[in-house]
Amino acid sequence: MNKINCIGILTSGGDSPGMNAAIRAVTRTALGRGFRVKGIYRGYDGLIHGDIKDFTSESVSNIIARGGTILKSARSKEFTTPEGRQQAYETMKAEGIDALVVIGGNGSLTGARIFADEFNVPCIGLPGTIDNDLYGTDLTIGYDTTLNTIVECVDKIRDTANSHERIFFVEVMGRDAGFLAQNSAIASGAEAAIIPEDSTDADQLEHFIGRGIRKSKNSSIVIVSESPKCGAMFYADRVKKEYPQYDVRVSILGHLQRGGSPSARDRILATRLGSGAIDAILDGQRNVMIGIRNDEVIYIPFADAIRSDKPMNLNLIKVLDELSI
Ligand code: F6P
Repeated sequence: MNKINCIGILTSGGDSPGMNAAIRAVTRTALGRGFRVKGIYRGYDGLIHGDIKDFTSESVSNIIARGGTILKSARSKEFTTPEGRQQAYETMKAEGIDALVVIGGNGSLTGARIFADEFNVPCIGLPGTIDNDLYGTDLTIGYDTTLNTIVECVDKIRDTANSHERIFFVEVMGRDAGFLAQNSAIASGAEAAIIPEDSTDADQLEHFIGRGIRKSKNSSIVIVSESPKCGAMFYADRVKKEYPQYDVRVSILGHLQRGGSPSARDRILATRLGSGAIDAILDGQRNVMIGIRNDEVIYIPFADAIRSDKPMNLNLIKVLDELSI
């Protein structure tokens, strides 16, 4: 294995609050341990096209509190092609980058894994996604902040739902995972959550209708995990049709969920994982994602982090149900 002198760092896929804290931790830990650091802009596109700058400690000053990513992010189509990855490898060689730290979600780490296999490049992943859907880590960078943002929004929606005695279907992000929906529902005291991991969508809706809206409550909030086929609008339409006596509204929270200053918890997580990435490189680890389990920083092979479905505690849906009487 060639000696590693220079580490390239990039953020890829949907941004998440805390990515900057991770960039800061990776950069400063690496510099402190004698590596050179290069910031790669716009994800894998920047690696392909040489959008790269030398990073110093000052490059990451005053960013720990900022949402988004100073490195910008992209979902690179070119990097999904063998030609794109070949070009990325040429750029790495020309820039003298010996190892990569990739901060991103499932798609980004899948890209890192393929690239690492094809060119024998040491890659370390950090789980940067609001969706919390990477296997092997209890938490991903950005999830906690987004959860808090959703809860803040739902608290506000509750005020108006109550005043007008309405049922609100609130749609939240999560791609194919219901962590944000389930836990924001619990934290905001919502009446129900409709998530992809639970029984069929139709059953979940029937269950809510049977338990919730027929009771004495004058307002209800249902958190719905986003889905191309049956998001909040779909359920609202069904309830409107079957129960015209109810006043139903939809609120799709959208991209505001990805913004904002990271929570203390996300900043600490990002810092620990970022510093763990450099420990991993020094440990001779290759092609692993750095995660956290039971408060311990751990290494998860890319193949596991990407392939397996992250288990969800579905008992919490029962808890939600019991508390919504
Ligand atoms: O993966 C993060 C995420 O915010 C998902 O929750 C959501 O489905 C998706 O990205 C939205 O992507 P885009 O910003 O490209 O619309």
